[in-house]
Amino acid sequence: MSEPIRVVVTGAAGQIAYSLLYIIAKGDVFGPNQPLILHLLDIPVMMDVLQGVVMELADCALPLLHEVIPTADPAVAFKDVFAAFLVGAMPRRQGMERKDLLSANVKIFKEQGEALDNYARKDVKVLVVGNPANTNALVCSKYAPSLPPENFTAMTRLDQNRARAQIAEKAGVPVSCVSNLIIWGNHSSTQVPDASHAKVMKNGTTMSAADAIQNDSWLKQEFVETIQKRGAAVIAARKMSSAMSAANAAADHMRSWFMGTSNDEFVCMGVMSDGSYGAPKNVVYSFPITIKNGKWSIVQGLKIDDFFANMMNLTGQELEEERKEAFSVIQA
Ligand code: NAI
Repeated sequence: MSEPIRVVVTGAAGQIAYSLLYIIAKGDVFGPNQPLILHLLDIPVMMDVLQGVVMELADCALPLLHEVIPTADPAVAFKDVFAAFLVGAMPRRQGMERKDLLSANVKIFKEQGEALDNYARKDVKVLVVGNPANTNALVCSKYAPSLPPENFTAMTRLDQNRARAQIAEKAGVPVSCVSNLIIWGNHSSTQVPDASHAKVMKNGTTMSAADAIQNDSWLKQEFVETIQKRGAAVIAARKMSSAMSAANAAADHMRSWFMGTSNDEFVCMGVMSDGSYGAPKNVVYSFPITIKNGKWSIVQGLKIDDFFANMMNLTGQELEEERKEAFSVIQA
């Protein structure tokens, strides 16, 4: 068995972490032969709650979990970490303007970027889950100048998983028969769920989603809106935001990054844009991605029709506006 790796989860006393910590600690992300030391960061007022989480992790008696370090100090939390799940963020409270939320969160991600820069391993893989996830990842990267920008990613895997599940249900096949859904752009209501390049295995043949579903207008309207509004639909039903599916998606994202993608499969991640597909540069934009040996690349050469190209422009513009607001808050 190899040496333990250090993995930090922030917002460790919160809802998503409650599901995520168990998935990581039992070996479903880094593999069944990789021991772990978990660093759990939350804010000082949550330390009692965090102790409860530490007790439960101990009571799971998980063989891969060598040590658990609960802390409210970023210097301890980020020390020598190999992977970072940045889940902790300020939730939107009643009466809070979008700008107030952005302002509170960019400050958190500036501080955590600096701590990663000072204390983490230089090859640390950072996944930002806390919203606004794409812009938080951008801020974090900018304040960690000694770390390569490609180490910073934002989560759109939940949206991709939601899209896969909707296509599978409509096509009448198990979800394992559906792959290569794309989420372009921001993890927000402007995101672009695109099934044009999806593959569906139906009746023993691999076909496009359009052939499997035979309803082009559904793919461009109802499907797109369902994915864009799925988070709100879960909140309306559960009276709390999606936590189990978000934790599952965070684990999927990091596992793909750590283990790689299979031959003709791609996954979606928010990554530093190089301008591919006309996206603005210098924002964290969700693209289709393949991964080999821990390095991701944007899938190139996919054909985009005018319908999706227009939507991709809008979500790109939103990211540029968020970037402007975020840096004006930090510099104020
Ligand atoms: P939660 O409110 O249950 O937990 C958040 C935790 O973060 C709390 O324990 C809080 O004390 C902690 N926290 C706040 N500031 C912190 C700081 N500076 N350092 C460390 N910890 C801090 O929220 P939940 O449900 O776990 O969601 C977390 C975030 O994930 C939210 O921003 C939510 O919007 C986002 N989210 C993102 C999704 C995505 O697809 N990218 C999907 C679902 C949620």
